[in-house]
Amino acid sequence: MQIAHTIAELRQLLSRSERPAFVPTMGNLHAGHIALVRQAGTLGDATVASIFVNRLQFLPHEDFDTYPRTWDSDCAQLAEAGCDVLFAPDERELYPEPQSYKVHPPAELANILEGHFRPGFFVGVSTVVMKLLACVQPAVAVFGKKDYQQLMVIRGMVRQFALPTEIVAGETQRADDGLALSSRNGYLSEAERAEAVWLSRTLRQMATQVKAGQPFAEIEAEAMQTLARRGWQPDYLTVRRQADLQAPTPLDAPLVVLGAAKLGPTRLIDNLEL
Ligand code: PAF
Repeated sequence: MQIAHTIAELRQLLSRSERPAFVPTMGNLHAGHIALVRQAGTLGDATVASIFVNRLQFLPHEDFDTYPRTWDSDCAQLAEAGCDVLFAPDERELYPEPQSYKVHPPAELANILEGHFRPGFFVGVSTVVMKLLACVQPAVAVFGKKDYQQLMVIRGMVRQFALPTEIVAGETQRADDGLALSSRNGYLSEAERAEAVWLSRTLRQMATQVKAGQPFAEIEAEAMQTLARRGWQPDYLTVRRQADLQAPTPLDAPLVVLGAAKLGPTRLIDNLEL
């Protein structure tokens, strides 16, 4: 695996690739990221990953400073997964001047759910992804369904700006008990890790209730109560249309159930397509 710390080095390393396949990450890699890298390996002639902890997508009280930087382990996992080129710019390289040009995704998609609880999050994500796509110029980029709303925001951005990159979705990878793999799972204590399974369990229960025809509002209220009673602080547990993440009518399909909740200090998200 070759490593580029600058955009010039990256362009040099990719100069002979006709079809780079790209997986952007913030590092602290786990089997979920590695599955995306392996998927990218089947889609292009050079597999590229990036590691960049993007300050723009963190709120002031969030974990930007403490976000785990696990360089040696990340490099070893990427090399093992067949990554050809790792792009690892520092902030001076990616944001040499304050990033005043930003991508603002539409409010009806970006200000709901994650965007409601993390204002500005999708501006930060869209801006850095736009910039990373400009650096790598990939034919295809793989984003995990675990971050369902992020995948939709990026798809919309690429479509509306006619970027020459195909966006491919990667399935969520789960631990044996069903917990979606996430970098933030590393923050959980042993007891919290055992409890964490209740997020995916609750989403599965919601999916069953949707299929049984129970009213959405009732399903959502019950799910919020289930987690709250177990000591979580749920932000949302909701049934939405896959097409635009808006609240569905009983006739709208396909649907997705999405949830975000804090367990102790750790905020987890997950979703399940129906
Ligand atoms: O999903 C992530 O890890 C980040 O939001 C991304 C896409 C790498 C942008 O910083």
